[in-house]
Amino acid sequence: MINSLAFPRNGDKRNSSFFEEYLGRLLEERDRVGLTEMVREVDAIMLTVEPGRSIRYIGELALMTPYHYLVTLESNSHLTHILRVDMHSPDLLVREVKDPDQRGIFRSLNEVYPIGARKPNSRYMGEILRVSDLHSVVELQQAREFAFFSQEQLRRLELPGNLAVCKPSPYTHNIVGYMERPESDIRVYSLGLSSIRSDVQEVYLAAKELQAKLRIDDLLLPIDHLATRVYSQNREVAILEWLSQSSYYYWGSYDIKNQSSSTNVTKSVHFAEELRSPAKVFTANNTPYFVNHLEGLPSPTETFVRNYGPRLHHIALAVADGDREGMENIEYVVEQIRRQGGEFLLDVIGSKDQGLKQIFSSASEHSSLIVEYVQRFGDFQGFFAKDNVAELTHAAGVEEELLTMQASGQTAAVVPDWVH
Ligand SMILES: [Fe+2]
Repeated sequence: MINSLAFPRNGDKRNSSFFEEYLGRLLEERDRVGLTEMVREVDAIMLTVEPGRSIRYIGELALMTPYHYLVTLESNSHLTHILRVDMHSPDLLVREVKDPDQRGIFRSLNEVYPIGARKPNSRYMGEILRVSDLHSVVELQQAREFAFFSQEQLRRLELPGNLAVCKPSPYTHNIVGYMERPESDIRVYSLGLSSIRSDVQEVYLAAKELQAKLRIDDLLLPIDHLATRVYSQNREVAILEWLSQSSYYYWGSYDIKNQSSSTNVTKSVHFAEELRSPAKVFTANNTPYFVNHLEGLPSPTETFVRNYGPRLHHIALAVADGDREGMENIEYVVEQIRRQGGEFLLDVIGSKDQGLKQIFSSASEHSSLIVEYVQRFGDFQGFFAKDNVAELTHAAGVEEELLTMQASGQTAAVVPDWVH
């Protein structure tokens, strides 16, 4: 039997006794009832964009990531495009609502937040986890008080009918779906009419042609981690809830004191390699916003959550270790994308000595999501460097301050030259 508590603990952030007690009890029970065994890797991730945006977003993804366009599922009020790298890493489902006035649960999760409301249909929705026995997993999770959408609700939401989908988390606003599939079978999504659309294919092929011409196509690897931001008070419960829904373990947390935040990492018990099932990372401020004036520290994470709501902040993609044309691969990739007009929030940070280099792109105008690139050197096993996280968190915070000012009609007095 797998022991989800046997993994070494990393990090320097201390947790409450509540967290430590229930971490032990929840994972021990999860292993014992067989959930850890039945719930496998992240099989797909889902997100939604504004009407008319999905094709351009697929073009952006086809250039910046290893994803390929596979097929479009057309249902009454949505287009759901399926993107795939291969069967060893998660699919990406890009969903577009056809009617800008359509209301719905995912839209309402954006609408009470000042910046989130500006693009009400743009948000990361959540993960689909592969399971070996859907009926047993759902029964066990219902007994643990997880609420699921009914079949009728899934039909009305136009989500694939072969999934069981939990209602959005009160802490992260993300959903978790389960899909039964033997490892040897291809992934299928039971939804609408399936076709390869020529308008999508055209944009996709042009982006892939450019990617090959720039010689970055062989350097971009699948998703390394998914980073969700939550309110400070929800740090521990968001982690414990995700661990209860998945077969991940708690890797550890780092305190990023100068940004008043912490980065909390969970990983799959089934795959040591993130590319097979991405790490899930939670970032939370150390203190709530209303004590900022007493602490005098920046708090970009809490500010983000107040502006957008709890949600996914970035998707991190791995870059192959090595050099190209005298540059480390990550520097080469960034340089090539910048030349095409792609924007990044800062320069590549970190070093070979620290074990990894990282960078954040600007948030996509289509999905509001940031792409992170991460290159690990040699046999570096660590997940991140603390200094890097502090710099990345700071850079994302500066961009967001500008967006907040734009949203309220002000203009920035001083715009750092690397922002635009
Ligand atoms: Fe990250």
